[in-house]
Amino acid sequence: MAKTTIHKIMAKKSQNEKICMITCYDATFAKILDKAGVDMVLVGDSLGTVIKGEDGTVNVTLDEITYHTRAVARGIERALIVADLPFLSYHTSDGQAIESAGKLIQAGANCVKLEGGEFLANRVKQIVSFGIPVMGHLGLMPQSVNALGGYVIQGKTRDQKEKLVKDALALQDAGVFAIVLEGVQSDVAREITAQVCVPTIGIGAGPSCDGQVLVLYDLLGLDPEFKPKFVKQFANGAADVTGACQNYMVEVKKGLFPSRDHSFSAPEISVN
Ligand code: KIV
Repeated sequence: MAKTTIHKIMAKKSQNEKICMITCYDATFAKILDKAGVDMVLVGDSLGTVIKGEDGTVNVTLDEITYHTRAVARGIERALIVADLPFLSYHTSDGQAIESAGKLIQAGANCVKLEGGEFLANRVKQIVSFGIPVMGHLGLMPQSVNALGGYVIQGKTRDQKEKLVKDALALQDAGVFAIVLEGVQSDVAREITAQVCVPTIGIGAGPSCDGQVLVLYDLLGLDPEFKPKFVKQFANGAADVTGACQNYMVEVKKGLFPSRDHSFSAPEISVN
């Protein structure tokens, strides 16, 4: 199957075809998601929580995203690979942002994602002008958790709503090919989706967005205690993994595994 491009992703908006993005951090899951037909995989800085076990995303480094992007790229043939620019990798200058984005492209990403609105528009323009496609990220921006006062839903007041719409239009004018809307009231996400001509990809932003994104481990139910309202668990991952590991341990202890089927006998070895 042909490689997904940013142009194919953008065309889906006018074709009224929903876009699916899932986070991914390694080659094995990348292969599975690619074969499953997902449009985009996101090497997200959510790896700070689900891979590193940290509280948030602000300690994720560019080297870490680069490492995971390389791994994911080895497993992908078709899906578009989006890599997150982590905290402090694009904050200090246009030069820093272009260099960081370029590093992720060299690692195998097809585009980068960054958090922020109007104040970042010129920086986005610069990155795009060097041939690096950019996805925006508005609303609940985890890298700004301290300024936002926690992981709180955005767009509740009229001021917030107006600012979000303005930010989305500024990002669009700066050249982003899509915008993630995270933790945004559904009516505001609907309004933004109607006003911008690039696709919106929602997470906790209701059904009106042009596409959706979820953290892979959340949709697989790998942490059954993490059940925020916006997550639907599409599998009982934790229970299934626990069950498989327990079955393995029982069989090892009973001497049932490895059986002859899983062992090498002398004649087999001599054939090769
Ligand atoms: O890092 C991430 O997983 C993300 C998604 C939540 C959009 O940015």
